Amino acid sequence: MTTMETICSRASVRSYTGEPVSPEELAIILKAAKASPAGMARFDTLHLTVIHNPDLLAEIDAAGAALFGDPTMHPLYGAPTLVVVSSRKPAPGMENVAYSNAAIMVHSMALAATDLGVGSCYIWGATAALSKSEAILAKLGLPEDFIPCCAITLGKTDVAYTLREIPDDKISSNTIE
Ligand SMILES: Cc1cc2nc3c(=O)[nH]c(=O)nc-3n(C[C@H](O)[C@H](O)[C@H](O)COP(=O)(O)O)c2cc1C
Repeated sequence: MTTMETICSRASVRSYTGEPVSPEELAIILKAAKASPAGMARFDTLHLTVIHNPDLLAEIDAAGAALFGDPTMHPLYGAPTLVVVSSRKPAPGMENVAYSNAAIMVHSMALAATDLGVGSCYIWGATAALSKSEAILAKLGLPEDFIPCCAITLGKTDVAYTLREIPDDKISSNTIE
């Protein structure tokens, strides 16, 4: 795929076969995260947690469902892997840098996953839920003073990525000459 084909084919995948991505695919996806830019090159303020543990995934899934007020839902969609991107707790007023850093890393991973035909989806809801749970936070093994900012599900899927039409008016814009 060309770069633009990958960008325009990426889509949120919410259906997984349960089969995990291979170690080689995971290594490429994590490399994409690490190739991302970071404000003032402060890569030391960022941390990746790769979760394969089914019990912990189930716990996060349940916490997300509770946050959404629907115990029957599965906000991790049965994905066999969740990568949580965390940042050192930002100083007041600097939150935008932390969340921007994390979002860019998640997007880089989503593009790499698209290129590999691996399913992925940005996960904010369950990240918010796990951030409120001391029990789950303790299991993430984050460096001291780090907070989860966002996450991405990864896994094999039957969903095929297809090149999408991106209408010019999809997002409003203006130009100042
Ligand atoms: C910041 C952010 C948070 C998101 N959180 C979730 C989420 O918690 N669960 C989910 O299923 N999708 C989540 N999404 C995916 C969006 O719903 C999705 O990008 C949007 O519906 C457009 O669809 P597309 O990704 O297929 O283009 C999130 C996307 C972004 C950018």
